[in-house]
Amino acid sequence: MDLLTVLRNATESVDTIRDASRVKNPKVLLSLLGPAVRGFLLQKGKQGGSSDVPTEYTAHFDWEYQRDREELSRLYSTAKSSQWDGERDLDWSIDVDPYDPRHELVLDELFPLNEVPSYCSLPEKHQREHRHALLSWMLSQFLHGEQGALFAACQVTEAVQWLDGKLYGSTQVVDEGRHVEVFHRYLTTKLERLYQINDNLYVVIDALMSDSRWDIKFLGMQIMVEGLALGAFATMRTATREPLLREMLKRVITDEARHVHFGVLALGDFYRETLSEKERREREDWAFEMALLLRNRFLAHEFYDEYYAPFMSRKQWNTMLLGSGFMARFRATMFRRIIPNLKRIGLLSDRIRPYYEEIGLLEWEHHKAAPDLTATDLLDAA
Ligand SMILES: [Fe+2]
Ligand SMILES: [Fe+2]
Repeated sequence: MDLLTVLRNATESVDTIRDASRVKNPKVLLSLLGPAVRGFLLQKGKQGGSSDVPTEYTAHFDWEYQRDREELSRLYSTAKSSQWDGERDLDWSIDVDPYDPRHELVLDELFPLNEVPSYCSLPEKHQREHRHALLSWMLSQFLHGEQGALFAACQVTEAVQWLDGKLYGSTQVVDEGRHVEVFHRYLTTKLERLYQINDNLYVVIDALMSDSRWDIKFLGMQIMVEGLALGAFATMRTATREPLLREMLKRVITDEARHVHFGVLALGDFYRETLSEKERREREDWAFEMALLLRNRFLAHEFYDEYYAPFMSRKQWNTMLLGSGFMARFRATMFRRIIPNLKRIGLLSDRIRPYYEEIGLLEWEHHKAAPDLTATDLLDAA
């Protein structure tokens, strides 16, 4: 790693810790320190073809096998009958050509690049190449996120206290495995590009995988990351006219909606029944830090390094992207799927609300939470 990269990574770590210090909760700060050092400084997600994340949590056996969580049980039944096969149920014979204007891979007006001057002056062929690359970057992050979701689903299935939760969790493990399968197949056989994991995404996944508390894994994955995914998938589905990708995203969104629903049911009960006020406040602070990481940090730096580093500084790139109409739409869609759920599980008290208000995220609090959403609501990115 050259000196410039080391300095830049150190700056990212400091920014994350500075963000994390906003709510001044030393326990939250401490829990993010290890993941930030591993993700930004050591770039663990980018060292070779694999990474090992240390984990520690308790597997909970239930020898009484009581089926006493009615809503979770219903969700399990729905999940069983909604299974699909990534091989059989998607039409992989569809030819995906990033240079074919009849099935635009990404609609130009819906993507952030049309607000970049050096992109606008490019010939159309190169603009298509950039759109193809940026879409590949985004879908690669979805794929890496799905791998994290697969492992997190395994962990929460072991750790959750109720049998109905474990049975439901078993279906989520299969769902996430299928998502890894279809995103990987699409990226490698249709787009023929695969990007490495973004450092910020690595930090989020590392933080929830390595935390020993099962409910933090749940909160991080089922409420925050899956909520983000629901919004991101819907935004992406609106931005593409490619039929295979549209159908794949539609099926994945339907699965993810169940996962978020599971998170809201399980955590709502657990937080109401079990946690002290001090413990609840710590979860509230942790969720706010995750919201900050998710809001500020998905800035496609791997794509920027490849195509735009000669034309503008990283700071200019960040400012441009954060201020773009695309990011505004993206943020709106993703936080519309996160904030109401935080409220439903009791993590949006009057103490934390001003922090969300300050970063412009409180406006979503009155939207529908996961248990009240229909399939049509979820496919709508507007
Ligand atoms: Fe998934
Ligand atoms: Fe999921």
